[in-house]
Amino acid sequence: MKVTVQSLLEKKRDNKKIAMLTAYDFPFAQIADEAGVDAILVGDSLAMVVQGMGNTIAVTMDEMIYHTRMVSRATKRAMVIADMPYLSYQISVEEALRNAGRFLKEAAAQAVKLEGGREVADRVRALTAAEIPVVAHIGLTPQALHRMGGYKVQGKTEDAANRLMEDAKILEDAGAFCLTLEAIPAELARRITAEVSIPTIGIGAGPDCDGQVLVLHDVLGLFERFTPKFVKRYGDLKGAALKAIADYKDEVEKGTFPDKEHSF
Ligand code: KIV
Repeated sequence: MKVTVQSLLEKKRDNKKIAMLTAYDFPFAQIADEAGVDAILVGDSLAMVVQGMGNTIAVTMDEMIYHTRMVSRATKRAMVIADMPYLSYQISVEEALRNAGRFLKEAAAQAVKLEGGREVADRVRALTAAEIPVVAHIGLTPQALHRMGGYKVQGKTEDAANRLMEDAKILEDAGAFCLTLEAIPAELARRITAEVSIPTIGIGAGPDCDGQVLVLHDVLGLFERFTPKFVKRYGDLKGAALKAIADYKDEVEKGTFPDKEHSF
């Protein structure tokens, strides 16, 4: 059965952890879905781990739609959440609505995610009113890279922590059904998780969130430009791919591939 907004809310109520992972294409979305993750986020991290860019700023709506379509096509059970790219929701409520709607209409996403606190509450409210489920995202928000001066842990001072707590409540009140907490102290994430009734999904926010999300290419060992402290690598697909391709090259050069078994 497909994971829904209701089933994720139930998981929080029942104290069951939510596993979320990013994916950007058909084969990996199919694998993540088969492995049983609850939600697949088509993250704007696409820019960095697939497109090879230095940050997430440049990825476009059309590119995100293209990748979300592939992920939706591959996914039977997990909820598909599309990440709204930079400038797809910052300009106006109308633009936010039009762009978020495209993810549902053109790419079969079930929800969208957008970054920011109180300053995007009017977007969250408008999208929710238009029947578009919204995942909010506070703490380290990579689209604010230039204001933040780098990918730094947020909410470390008492004032900053209080502001994040307030933002969490404002976003819940605006209608967000889920809240991503990125790179904040574990104790603050624990307090926010206890204070809101929607599930919190942590990435670099400690063990007490209602769920966790990681970037697929980090989990599988396919991204090596840098590794944040919160990343745990569960596989070495780069190593496996290197070996397979080197073996293939070797056999072609030696003339042992194709053999009889692989010829007509
Ligand atoms: O773009 C992304 O992958 C994300 C997650 C890291 C939360 O926003």
